[in-house]
Amino acid sequence: MELNIIINQDCLKGMKTLKDNIVDLIIADPPYNLSKGGEWKWDNSVKLAGMGGNWNKVMESWDNMSLSEYFAFTITWLTEAQRILKPTGSMWIFGTYHNIGIINVVCQLLNIEIINEVIWYKRNAFPNLAGRRLTASHETILWCNKGGKKREYYFDYEYSKNGNFDYDSLKQPGKQMRTVWDISNNKEKRELEYGKHPTQKPLRILKRMIQLSSREGDIMLTPFSGAGSECLAAKELGRNYVGYEVDPHYVDIAHKRLEHAMLNNQMNIFDSINKGEE
Ligand SMILES: C[S@@+](CC[C@H](N)C(=O)[O-])C[C@H]1O[C@@H](n2cnc3c(N)ncnc32)[C@H](O)[C@@H]1O
Repeated sequence: MELNIIINQDCLKGMKTLKDNIVDLIIADPPYNLSKGGEWKWDNSVKLAGMGGNWNKVMESWDNMSLSEYFAFTITWLTEAQRILKPTGSMWIFGTYHNIGIINVVCQLLNIEIINEVIWYKRNAFPNLAGRRLTASHETILWCNKGGKKREYYFDYEYSKNGNFDYDSLKQPGKQMRTVWDISNNKEKRELEYGKHPTQKPLRILKRMIQLSSREGDIMLTPFSGAGSECLAAKELGRNYVGYEVDPHYVDIAHKRLEHAMLNNQMNIFDSINKGEE
């Protein structure tokens, strides 16, 4: 399998070509299937007084399937993901109430074991524009393993307890990590430097998943790589990556981000040499 590459291909086709039990980690940020009502358009230049700035509603063709199509799509990609994941590996899946119920049911149907359901609390959540319901301020993440009789997945318990999570108001130093994570959805400037993705994930949450469940040199695969956040997080933590993405525009953004990460790494090495460090 070629490593450290983002492939401009449908992951349903791409994953089929991979051998069984070949990747250590899968981070899946699939379409949430919430782009309903195709005529709805949002003008990003409009500011919403009292709502904390500009907001962007996701309205993408890849994110609009019928319920039965979405169910079939979920079964197909999760079947492949389970097949290629090593017994020692982990899979993290993002979702919201629109799709996470379906993903949970499909995991159970396929005997993929759900290790934890994590609530990603977003302090800076998208406001409810109509004022007709509560403001959704979390996403759900399922942490899973391949399933089977023995539990062999890797878990860095020491990192989970004693890592540096000072940005998270809910994680107490030296205490066990809980299943509610307080992580801002704001991106650093460098995360948006080469273009944006409407559902781009912050590097901070991806790095937490990677460090909890993989080792340096491991292979992380992301079936829906978007602007390459999962791949960049993996690269910056010394893991190998493979991504699939159907939209060439996002592949282009991801390539630029990854090239830049490489330059950063090289600059760090030069800096260390200049300072006489190892
Ligand atoms: C939720 S976004 C992922 C965003 C990503 N986590 C990031 O931070 O940039 C899902 C992405 O999956 C892509 N996609 C949808 N269906 C796909 C498929 N069958 N194979 C590969 N990519 C797909 C979409 O084009 C979209 O960019």
